Amino acid sequence: MIAAALVTGAGGGLGRAVTLALAKRGCAVVALDINGTAAQETADEAGSGLVTPLTMDLTAPGAPELAVVEAIAASGGLDIVVNNAGFGIGEAFLEMTEASWDRTLALNLKAVALICAAAGRHMKEKGTGRIVNVTSPASRMALPNYLAYAASKAGVDSVTRAAAVALAPFGVRVNSIAPGMMDTAMQRITERQLAAVEGRTDTAAFLAERTARIPIGRRTDVDTVANMIVWLALDAPDDMTAERLNVSGGLDRD
Ligand SMILES: NC(=O)c1ccc[n+]([C@@H]2O[C@H](COP(=O)([O-])OP(=O)(O)OC[C@H]3O[C@@H](n4cnc5c(N)ncnc54)[C@H](O)[C@@H]3O)[C@@H](O)[C@H]2O)c1
Repeated sequence: MIAAALVTGAGGGLGRAVTLALAKRGCAVVALDINGTAAQETADEAGSGLVTPLTMDLTAPGAPELAVVEAIAASGGLDIVVNNAGFGIGEAFLEMTEASWDRTLALNLKAVALICAAAGRHMKEKGTGRIVNVTSPASRMALPNYLAYAASKAGVDSVTRAAAVALAPFGVRVNSIAPGMMDTAMQRITERQLAAVEGRTDTAAFLAERTARIPIGRRTDVDTVANMIVWLALDAPDDMTAERLNVSGGLDRD
């Protein structure tokens, strides 16, 4: 039987890598992104007919539930959800704005919780299912100039624990992954913002210092993290739920 998956934020970065990796394993994947062209490019890159693009802004009212409905309609069911779409903005603690908080929490936290519930209702009926939420080392750090993002990811950790417990009796497993720094569009934009907030003009030196803080001395990449997500979605033991896998080269520590 072909497993049916929904990947959010599938138009770029980690989400595209996860979509391609799941399709390579034979899954039918609905690739959701606010950027329809990017989602179509992901489907084209997969090239197997297994990836269906879906254009949606997950911060719109009703969108999280609609995403699950559309994914079920596209594939005739839903076995796997990867809550990957994310947004972050680097802004000084004393200057932080309501707009940044609203956008960040709506996407990174509220949509994740509501997708877990909507997918959970469907998976409960099937008696099986796997949800993987993408968190961040930031969820456990004090980051005054990246606070809405860090707080949203702390919220994701809370959602993962609660959803795992709520859905455990129904055969549904919920885990999360905390990727280290990956050089994606989001990471590039955020680091430019953080450099500006900290008054740094020597961007190359700023980036090198951040990389040097990683105990293994290098950043990770989307394919490494995508493979861990695929493992959680397809291969991890059924006994594993409410786990937070940390793939950050020691930046984040359990
Ligand atoms: N890049 C890193 O270093 C890093 C580290 C830790 C965690 N993460 C997390 O990994 C996940 C993926 O990040 P990435 O680095 O690949 O980012 P990215 O910006 O490259 O990709 C995010 C995707 O989400 C889509 N998106 C944005 N807003 C959306 C919305 N409202 N509705 C639907 N889709 C939307 C974007 O169009 C984009 O394709 C995020 O949850 C991020 O917080 C990233």
